[in-house]
Amino acid sequence: MTDASVRPLTVPQFLAAKAQGKKLAVVTAYDHLWAGISDAAGVDAILVGDTVGMVVQGHNTTLPVTVGQMIYHAEMVCRAVKRALVVVDLPYLSYHVSPRQAIRNAGRIIKQTGAAAVKLEGGVTQGDTIRALTNAEIPVMGHVGLRPQSVRKLGGMGKVQRDEEQLLADAHAAQDAGAFAIVLELIPRSIAARITKELSIPTIGIGAGPDCDGQVLVGPDLLGLTGDFHPKFLKKYADLRTAAINALQQYTQEVHNGEFPTAGHSHE
Ligand code: KIV
Repeated sequence: MTDASVRPLTVPQFLAAKAQGKKLAVVTAYDHLWAGISDAAGVDAILVGDTVGMVVQGHNTTLPVTVGQMIYHAEMVCRAVKRALVVVDLPYLSYHVSPRQAIRNAGRIIKQTGAAAVKLEGGVTQGDTIRALTNAEIPVMGHVGLRPQSVRKLGGMGKVQRDEEQLLADAHAAQDAGAFAIVLELIPRSIAARITKELSIPTIGIGAGPDCDGQVLVGPDLLGLTGDFHPKFLKKYADLRTAAINALQQYTQEVHNGEFPTAGHSHE
């Protein structure tokens, strides 16, 4: 049975949260199970991030992820979500060739998955593309600071971005082109605070300090599922990896020694 009282959060409501002084909690999810749990917990938005390439597929970067894979994961997520705004990453080279290419790929994602919006990385250099997408009625979340799709150019994944004037220019360019929100990744707190003050759209930080309008974390990171990953910006709210290993060890032991299944687990 569906709960008719639950209404999906809209892009205008997400945008309006800033003026209302409401902080926004965003988390990544890649499948039906975790998206449903995240939605039930009350997060404001679920990002089907191209981090799927690293967290789920086991690559070292997000670069190999394809549009088809993003659609596959976003469909699973959208089937589970009742309230949160679902945003889907445009993967590497799915929008860099031209604004037309971006509309085609983002259009496929929106039409086939039912997601509300797409996210792309870049500010000044992606202004025309963000404008073209918003003109095509596709809401866009921007992403500046560390841009994992530019890992080859930036020279590494974990580098804090410190060029204040460039970061401000990028953030303003994304807003001016029509982005309804913007991710600020791995930039100093003071710069994130300045961008947050200057922009009228919500800033969603990750490694950008406490002054942003919201926060995004990779779901499996905050749940403690990703083992040895301990960057300074991450707070782990659970240790599900240890809990899962303990449960699976106990299960294995009980099957090996005949403790499980018992008669009580059998059908007559
Ligand atoms: O792909 C992703 O998960 C992201 C977040 C880390 C912001 O872009």
